[in-house]
Amino acid sequence: MGATEKLRVGVVGLGMGSQHIAAYQSLPDYFEVVAVCDLDPQKARETAQKFQIPAFHTSFSELCQRDDLAIIDLCTPPALHFSQIKAALAAGVHVVCEKPLVGSLQELDELKRAAQQANRVIMPIFQYRFGHGLQKLKYLQAQGLTGQTYLSTVETAWRRRPEYYAVPWRGKWKTELGGTMASHAIHTLDMLTYIVGPVKEIFAFTTTRVNPVEVEDCVSISMQMADGSLASLSATTGSTVQISRHRFCFSNLTAESNLRPYTNSGDPWSFTGDTDELTTQIEQALAGFVPLPESLTGQFYRFYRALLQGEPLPVSLDDARAALELLTAIYYSAYTNRCVSLPLEDDHPFYGGWVSHFS
Ligand SMILES: NC(=O)c1ccc[n+]([C@@H]2O[C@H](COP(=O)([O-])OP(=O)(O)OC[C@H]3O[C@@H](n4cnc5c(N)ncnc54)[C@H](O)[C@@H]3O)[C@@H](O)[C@H]2O)c1
Repeated sequence: MGATEKLRVGVVGLGMGSQHIAAYQSLPDYFEVVAVCDLDPQKARETAQKFQIPAFHTSFSELCQRDDLAIIDLCTPPALHFSQIKAALAAGVHVVCEKPLVGSLQELDELKRAAQQANRVIMPIFQYRFGHGLQKLKYLQAQGLTGQTYLSTVETAWRRRPEYYAVPWRGKWKTELGGTMASHAIHTLDMLTYIVGPVKEIFAFTTTRVNPVEVEDCVSISMQMADGSLASLSATTGSTVQISRHRFCFSNLTAESNLRPYTNSGDPWSFTGDTDELTTQIEQALAGFVPLPESLTGQFYRFYRALLQGEPLPVSLDDARAALELLTAIYYSAYTNRCVSLPLEDDHPFYGGWVSHFS
């Protein structure tokens, strides 16, 4: 990287926000975190000290009044994202925001209009996309080596104990916006559609059995994809052994992820050709794979190149909309005990969100 324009960032919400700061700081030629913000003054001060950030704020509106920011990065509880994104756009900055982005397609469509009017970008976080294992599969797919998709299976088997839900916003529809599907398996679902494309029909069962919370903590989903292949996804917060797993069965190869719960998109993945000849072709093709940064650093690296060098956004608002449309369909299926066809139109009963139906 040569000398470049640095983008000045303010990070809000200093739980997950600390990981965002570390990722920006690992790209010092591209970004400079100049301010942090948290309602908790001690957290704000200590985080600024720890990462040597010159300013901290305890008021989000005060942060928005700064005139030196190019980006505001939101790592606040989900129910705050919608109003904070709108306020950040009104302040004239680009916005990075954690998942789930918002709680309805209606809000997302409103944000799309607001971003267009402000001529600014909203980049949702889906950092699992950038692991080298998943990127290798994307690369093989682009080379035409995977063939037809048959069946994809996805497991998000994590463990969350009562301490996790001691944080007041978690476990409640109105503040978390959903359970393990919206908060955890949204990443592994995004990885599925990143490879296989849109979903055509979905049937979902959800239940709450692990912790005494309002939101779902066990999910089982069956999908027919738009390309005609089938997929299943299961998620729980009750797995003593934590894993995330993807297995894609294509006509030319089977791809299997590693099982690390939070980095299963990274190496190693196995790619087994359906014949010895295909396996050799896969190995030869992978010799040309050029690894870029992974995880949050990988997403921010590509974000910079999108903003300043005209490359495509690594995760777009349309990507977040696709994930949100699936969440809407999943909750509608679970609510009605029916199979749901996609896409969902703006007269769908859950277009305005699902939270009011469950809480
Ligand atoms: N991408 C991932 O892998 C990943 C992992 C964990 C969390 N998250 C997401 O990050 C977000 C935050 O989750 P978390 O686990 O860090 O939560 P958290 O409760 O640990 O941290 C949230 C912080 O936001 C602060 N806050 C709340 N309201 C605020 C306001 N109005 N202004 C400024 N600060 C405010 C709180 O004081 C708290 O410090 C959620 O959207 C969550 O889904 C993403």
